[in-house]
Amino acid sequence: MIGLLQVFELQQASTMAKPIDVLYDFVFFISLVSFVGIVLAMLYFVIRYHRRRKHPEQTPYIEGHTPTELTMSAILFVLVMVIFAWGWIDYKKIRTSPADALEINLIGKQWLWEVEYANGRKLLNELVVPEGKPVKLIMSSADVIHSFYVPSFRLKQDVVPGTYTSLWFQATQAGEYPAYCAEYCGTAHSKMLAKVRVLGAQDYERWQLRWELEQQLGSMISTASATSKDGAALPPAEKGKELFSAKGCNACHSLTSDKSPVGPGLGNIFGKTIELTDGTKVTIDENYIRESIMDPNIKVVKGYQPLMPTYKGQLTDEDVNALVALIKSLKENP
Ligand code: CUA
Repeated sequence: MIGLLQVFELQQASTMAKPIDVLYDFVFFISLVSFVGIVLAMLYFVIRYHRRRKHPEQTPYIEGHTPTELTMSAILFVLVMVIFAWGWIDYKKIRTSPADALEINLIGKQWLWEVEYANGRKLLNELVVPEGKPVKLIMSSADVIHSFYVPSFRLKQDVVPGTYTSLWFQATQAGEYPAYCAEYCGTAHSKMLAKVRVLGAQDYERWQLRWELEQQLGSMISTASATSKDGAALPPAEKGKELFSAKGCNACHSLTSDKSPVGPGLGNIFGKTIELTDGTKVTIDENYIRESIMDPNIKVVKGYQPLMPTYKGQLTDEDVNALVALIKSLKENP
């Protein structure tokens, strides 16, 4: 059966597109039936009880009919709860990303989208992803609130300054799909467009590999296919390592699990749950690292003093991404 949104030529290009369309069509169908039912009932009552035609006497005072009202309320309640539960189940799927998802950084800026891969490759206003593999976007904004919206995936997520938000999807069809900024962010908001290019899994590997080789060979190869948009840069984790010493982080933190008296070691901590000075527990994720760099003394690890200075204003979003990538890369091999 064709979904309503497909009537408007919106492809279903992610694994979530179909379930969302089915729910959308269900709500639309129920609304349509209710609308038609209510209008027909209204017309019937208008004609049937038209005062001058059959009932010249005054309209009697009507008390209401409790059983009917209760029945109506019960039916509507059940219906709303069905829609809620159904929506909740799909929402949970959208919010829970698979652990093996390919992670890509996405930064929103007035007025463009910057994509950064783990190998250091950067793209502007273009996100290239493999088909049939879960992809997790780790998103931040350099200025105001933006929102990354891919209609063909039926997915949208706000991109907020000062924190990370994430969005995961699995593309189901190779092709090109438009992406939009869906949060008014200033003059050129409507021009903040990007495209999502989905490549077959093997094509994607080749696409990345070719770029990596080109980087290694430097200017020896200048292929016509190399697009000028692809900027060369250090992979984020390596850039993070440079920042780590340039900004003096290494004075108090080691990159292993060695504990210095001043600051905890950062080796193999990503994804772990730790205890804080006030006894609460926290899981180390992108947002915890970011907060610990910007507001280090809000959540201090148990056994340490709140000594670390803030790095607010000293690091760009890309810098913070690089440091997060560094800490992620420090997972010790089992
Ligand atoms: Cu960015 Cu609207």
